[in-house]
Amino acid sequence: MSNIAVLTSGGDAPGMNAAVMSVARNAAYLGMPLIGIKRGYNGLLGRGQKFEDDFIRLDLDTVLDIADMPGTYLRTARCDEFKDPAVREKAAKILRDLDISGLVVIGGDGSFQGAMRLCELGIPCIGIPGTIDNDLSYTEVTLGYDTATNVCVDTVRAIRATSRSHDRPHVVEVMGRNCGDLALATAEATGAEVVVVPEADWRIDDVAKRLNHQIEIGNTRATVVVAEGCWASMEPFDVYEFLHPYGKQVFPGEPMTTNRLASILKRKCGMAEVRSTVVGYTQRGCSPTARDSMFAFEAGAMAVQLLRKGISNQAIGVENGHTFYMPMEKALAAKRHFNRSLYNLLNAL
Ligand code: F6P
Repeated sequence: MSNIAVLTSGGDAPGMNAAVMSVARNAAYLGMPLIGIKRGYNGLLGRGQKFEDDFIRLDLDTVLDIADMPGTYLRTARCDEFKDPAVREKAAKILRDLDISGLVVIGGDGSFQGAMRLCELGIPCIGIPGTIDNDLSYTEVTLGYDTATNVCVDTVRAIRATSRSHDRPHVVEVMGRNCGDLALATAEATGAEVVVVPEADWRIDDVAKRLNHQIEIGNTRATVVVAEGCWASMEPFDVYEFLHPYGKQVFPGEPMTTNRLASILKRKCGMAEVRSTVVGYTQRGCSPTARDSMFAFEAGAMAVQLLRKGISNQAIGVENGHTFYMPMEKALAAKRHFNRSLYNLLNAL
């Protein structure tokens, strides 16, 4: 039986190792030798001097301990060069030379694009959606999203406790790139009073108004959850013009940040303090929740079975709570759904 291979690509996501482990267990069960490719598509560029620089044989002994390990054991990378058709030709040749007859790609949107292009070159590929951003619309959830949400929720709960102690509003930034799902889920689960996301236009004055209303009704420790991509949908605001007169170190044309938003809100709401926290990479670098591990297990099994049956160019996802697959192209073309009514409700209550 020829080899199959697996790689992780893009930002790491909790559950990637569990998915690799599932691929390995299922491949071993079906007698399919498995090769792990290191650092995403970079491992296929032929830069390494020896096999071990870019590849690793993933037998059961190698993977048994990694399932609940944070990060990605195979390492990951973003690979811009892979957009070049000549580079992809070379990668496909390397895969053929290694007698690899199928590839499981664990990653996000860009990683799936790469997989689709490899399929066109005759390399059967299956995609497992691994990203904390939850920005792949064909699936209800992506691998890592549940874990990242739980990290954000734990963080905001802790912040709300100390905010309460000090009567201090707080602005918390969560990840998600251009997708506000993590922010919405965090706000919903914690009862945060304000949430801003890239999908909906917003104004600083409206956030200040809402915060002021909270303060007036006695809530002096409200939480504003912001998605990291929310600045793109913010009505332009001259940070320098507003903050400079207060002696804040900011230069003309500098962008808005979470810290600066807190500073502005402090002044607009007349509070002694408005603090800020960027949750950051703790959202990615932790062990997967049971839910993510379970999806990883099912997705890994499905990926190997599809390759075994000669079915390729498919994206695995979750629909009505069940693991399913659909053509990669259709999956990537799915239109994003933004839960505007939830967004409105969270900002209205
Ligand atoms: O895609 C996952 C993600 O964590 C995004 O939420 C974030 O915008 C980005 O990756 C950060 O990437 P990097 O690891 O390059 O800082």
